[in-house]
Amino acid sequence: MLLLTLLTVHCFRPTVLMSLLFKKIKVHHGNVDRRLRRVILEDRAEQKQDQHPVKMPNIKVFSGSSHPDLTQRICERLQLDNSKAVLKKFSNKETNVEIVESVRGEDVFIIQSACGEVNDNLMELLIMINACKIASSSQVTAVIPCFPYARQDKKDRSRAPISAKLVANMLSVAGADHIITMDLHASQIQGFFDIPVDNLYAEPAILKYIRESIPEWKESVIVSPDAGGAKRVTSIADRLNVDFALIHKERKRANEVDNMTLVGNVKDKVAILVDDMVDTCGTICLAADKLIEAGAKRVYAFCVHGVLSGPALERLNKSAFEAVVVTNTIPQEDNMRKCPKIKCIDISMILAEAIRRTHNGESVSYLFSNVPM
Ligand SMILES: *[C@@H]1O[C@H](CO)[C@@H](O)[C@H](O)[C@H]1NC(C)=O
Ligand SMILES: *[C@@H]1O[C@H](CO)[C@@H](O)[C@H](O)[C@H]1NC(C)=O
Repeated sequence: MLLLTLLTVHCFRPTVLMSLLFKKIKVHHGNVDRRLRRVILEDRAEQKQDQHPVKMPNIKVFSGSSHPDLTQRICERLQLDNSKAVLKKFSNKETNVEIVESVRGEDVFIIQSACGEVNDNLMELLIMINACKIASSSQVTAVIPCFPYARQDKKDRSRAPISAKLVANMLSVAGADHIITMDLHASQIQGFFDIPVDNLYAEPAILKYIRESIPEWKESVIVSPDAGGAKRVTSIADRLNVDFALIHKERKRANEVDNMTLVGNVKDKVAILVDDMVDTCGTICLAADKLIEAGAKRVYAFCVHGVLSGPALERLNKSAFEAVVVTNTIPQEDNMRKCPKIKCIDISMILAEAIRRTHNGESVSYLFSNVPM
């Protein structure tokens, strides 16, 4: 009797106490035991929900027209519905944006990547940012998984435009308060902004993929296809505890390669080329041939942004690669259908977690070395 009273009294006490009690009673009372177990399980379920709040108030996630699939995945992870906006073109090709839901006082995230019609999508993003800004949202964050014009980041010849800086200015003028992006082609681009820029990395997801899907990864060499990528490659090689090599190339014109020299040893190893971006694939296909020539057993490529424009797919089809692994910062369904060598890593959970943490005012540095579950 005393025990039962105790039971009712302690029904809403912390689980620890309950389980202590539970252990004591267990010996004598079979059916009390079962009821108690149910109470404890329910209690635990409630606590779990308390630890991971499902609902996030005052947040709106909009999708630009470049990559609705990614937005969908992000929203699913955040357990949110994506917010409604009607995106249209007038007959003279002007972009028209209508934000259907109220954003007053809301923390707005707009997801738009540099793919498809890059210029139109950039304009659309600017208009969406501005529309949300002047509709009294509390903060507008542009989530740009692949940053447009990131390759035009320096004045490396006479009269060269620094278009990445221009894009940065345009985003700020439109009203963006914060930028979330991934593997910027040059991390200095962060400095083109006066607003905070979170440059996330696909590296943890790539490391995970290498460990899980390349059986001989412990015998591999990580190779950079150019001197500029040496830092990225050494970081990955260090984390995998394997060797690295790099290819020195002389490039006379954009998207055109002349001569290549391999620095390092890949003989009888699995060579893994790593780069931040792959576009027409001219360079990496030549690099693959070079690595095979130098005695590599197999060659893989890992690139964060699979732009894959122009003759890229044909080139990859004919190339020496075992597989070319990219992420879905840019949609890849079509490319994967057309070229069986392309594999895709989903990075939506990294962006979703960055959005969640930004919204809750938490640090995002956890994401630099971990893949969120
Ligand atoms: C490439 O290198 C080879 C030998 O290393 C040289 O004979 C050739 O002229 C070079 N080609 C160019 C375009 O520099
Ligand atoms: C690549 O090869 C596959 C068959 O292996 C073929 O179905 C596909 O059409 C090819 N794609 C291109 C772009 O050549």
